[in-house]
Amino acid sequence: MFNKSLNRKDNHSIKFNTFDESLLPMWIADMDFEAPQCIKSALIERLQQADLGYTKSGPGLDQSIVDWCKTQYDWDIQANWIAWLPGIVSGFNMACQGFNKGKVVVQTPNYPPMLQAPKQSGQKNLELSVTFDESTKRWMFDFEQLEILLSDEQCGLFLLCNPMNPQGTMLTQQELKHIIKLCHKHNVQLCSDEIHCDLRFELPHFPAGKFDPKAITLMAASKTFNIAGLGCSFAIIEDSFIRKHFVKQMNGLVSFPSNLGLVATQSAFEHGDSWRLELMDYLKINRDTLVSALNDFKINNQRIFKTHYNDASFLCWIDCTQLELITQQSALDWFKSAGIIPSDGIHFGKQGFVRINFGCPLALVKQALNLIKQKISTNNN
Ligand SMILES: Cc1ncc(COP(=O)(O)O)c(C=O)c1O
Repeated sequence: MFNKSLNRKDNHSIKFNTFDESLLPMWIADMDFEAPQCIKSALIERLQQADLGYTKSGPGLDQSIVDWCKTQYDWDIQANWIAWLPGIVSGFNMACQGFNKGKVVVQTPNYPPMLQAPKQSGQKNLELSVTFDESTKRWMFDFEQLEILLSDEQCGLFLLCNPMNPQGTMLTQQELKHIIKLCHKHNVQLCSDEIHCDLRFELPHFPAGKFDPKAITLMAASKTFNIAGLGCSFAIIEDSFIRKHFVKQMNGLVSFPSNLGLVATQSAFEHGDSWRLELMDYLKINRDTLVSALNDFKINNQRIFKTHYNDASFLCWIDCTQLELITQQSALDWFKSAGIIPSDGIHFGKQGFVRINFGCPLALVKQALNLIKQKISTNNN
């Protein structure tokens, strides 16, 4: 099922229609797979009715989320805790606007719109460095630095990205509880972007709202079921005062989720879990193939990439600083001259890094590895 490549070029996909078509697109974070059959059927049914007017969630959809949170995360939520949104990016920008005290803690490197969000509401970023720990082989931030940032008088919000994009780290229960404790101690609102959480491999995920009634937990079916173009996501907020204040930020700025997005989301959460599990088995093979091959590549007997096994999602964060030193070329230019378009680490706040999207048929991952091999042979002397 996942070996089949979808022809996304003719459908004006951003991934396939932005750069020179001779380059293999491995950048923007959606996958090259067809959405699951259950979603396709639900959408066809709605299209046959041709009722495409403004739509809101109903008891069936709300219940599918209540059930999903229970079965996936053992998290008991109530339907009225859900606030519907057209996108997660809108959600964290609303949090910035609604809890504006002048400064926002954000992990760095990070998903570019998250780095930009505080500035959209005229605030400053308090950068929480995410670094690679060689002993645990894990990208993580430091709790002492976090506490210093949270204790800034002007800090009103921590925008957490968990699982992390681009690093793929998932926080442990203990780490999450520690973050919540620090946010409460310093009276800082927690907003947790968990869009990648259903794409976890080996480890469990812990939603922020499960341990903090005040937290804004942002989730969606969009990334997992490859329906990001349908514009539908949601926030779960137990505390009714915070929820109402958050929802108020939509006024005049943020639209409803799309009609088809709501239909697809319900179908995904009601019927999509077996597809998701098969997807994760497939992505694991892609991840393992890519990471082990990348870590072996050498130029003049020196390793040129450092990468690791991400806990979640289909994104591989690659340290190319050694490659840049040896070739005296930016990593992005080097990959382009190999015939591949990755995401440039600079946009995530880190020079010398690229992010490769492996949400594609394994044959394309292998093709990318061959292109890299060929390029290396021109660099070796
Ligand atoms: C961490 C993170 N948040 C949000 C988004 C996008 O969310 P949306 O399309 O729902 O605005 C992405 C997409 O890559 C992401 O990686």
